Amino acid sequence: MKGLFLTLEGIDGAGKSSHLDALEALFRSQGRQVTRTREPGGTPLAETLRGLVLEQSMDPLTESLLVFAARRDHVVQVIEPALARRDVVLCDRFSDATFAYQGAGRGFDLQVLATLERWVQGLYGADSGALLQPDLTLWFDLAPEVAAERLAGARLPDRFESQPLEFFRRVAGGYAARAAAAPRFARIDAGQPREQVWQQVEAALAERGLVADPSGGAP
Ligand code: TMP
Repeated sequence: MKGLFLTLEGIDGAGKSSHLDALEALFRSQGRQVTRTREPGGTPLAETLRGLVLEQSMDPLTESLLVFAARRDHVVQVIEPALARRDVVLCDRFSDATFAYQGAGRGFDLQVLATLERWVQGLYGADSGALLQPDLTLWFDLAPEVAAERLAGARLPDRFESQPLEFFRRVAGGYAARAAAAPRFARIDAGQPREQVWQQVEAALAERGLVADPSGGAP
């Protein structure tokens, strides 16, 4: 058994986080230790940076540096040790969000993001160029119009949630481009009823042999 790094991605309102409890329970029922975490965040320092990124206005380079600084602390303090213990790391967002939000959404330079990604996720001692990346990314794909309806009135929006529909169209396009380039993505049709979304999640895990008995039913 080895560690498993699983991330959940999607635009705001796609409903990804509502499946975290069930995912954790599923892996625990298979005898796995689970480290559940999120980005930006997951350590005291990274949670402080999260507060800044979600609340303070700043230019896209500052925003990118802060999310990658938070990620560096998170990778070193939480993710790498958990994978070394062979935990399942369930992480609500990771660097695909940076390429989607800062890259596609804000229009920030993808080459600069790729450089920061190498600095922050470079696996020293491994083959040169190897990066820490998720083993599987569950991409909750939902039309931005539907996500906006779901979010409307849900809570006070943060700096990202309050962006116009056009921003989320670009973010959704950013996720689609990342997914097309990497087989680690499993696309989940998040427009379906919740129970069917969960069935797709289970099926994605089963297809990859990540859960032994995926017929546990809805959360
Ligand atoms: P959350 O609401 O899913 O926890 O995510 C927090 C917000 O931060 C969400 O709107 C996406 C945004 N975000 C980025 O812009 N860049 C990133 O690298 C990450 C991880 C999140």
